[in-house]
Amino acid sequence: MTGTGPVERAPAEIRALVRPEHVHRRLYTDPVLFDQEMRRVFGGTWCYLGHTSEVPEPGDFRRRRLGRRELLLVRGSDGAVRALFNRCAHRGTMLVAEDAGCAGSFTCPYHGWRFGDDGRLRNIPVPSSYTDIRSGRFDLGRLAVAEYRGFLFGTLAATRCRWPSTWGRSAPTWTS
Ligand code: FES
Repeated sequence: MTGTGPVERAPAEIRALVRPEHVHRRLYTDPVLFDQEMRRVFGGTWCYLGHTSEVPEPGDFRRRRLGRRELLLVRGSDGAVRALFNRCAHRGTMLVAEDAGCAGSFTCPYHGWRFGDDGRLRNIPVPSSYTDIRSGRFDLGRLAVAEYRGFLFGTLAATRCRWPSTWGRSAPTWTS
């Protein structure tokens, strides 16, 4: 453990759990390792989210999970594919329960806020009942998404992490 950061297993301790003929069961059961993997792998690298063929038409969406986060992989009406957090920007309710579908917008089942397929807040029923609804403040959160030969990758890293050079010489296309 360093400073006040999260508890982590040291690289040498992790390496010792892997042998050519077997891996130690702690790799599957240690909550510290699990948290470390969620943070460093699923929270800090490019991860596969899906393929463009899964969302061929504007409005098509698929529910995805990246680490502990629920996502919506959506092709917007502008043709761009985005990965939006499947979490209402008002009070955090899950927006979409279906695994896949086609919708031009997403309406929260709790208070009825409606978000566009680009994640922007489009409509609030009875807006006078809310204060401080500033433009952009309540849009859905979204990840950086890169497309490489139809394969879509996203990252939860706060700053876009480097594209792995081993994944190909060509640069990906940044879709959002
Ligand atoms: S929690 Fe979604 S509109 Fe209030």
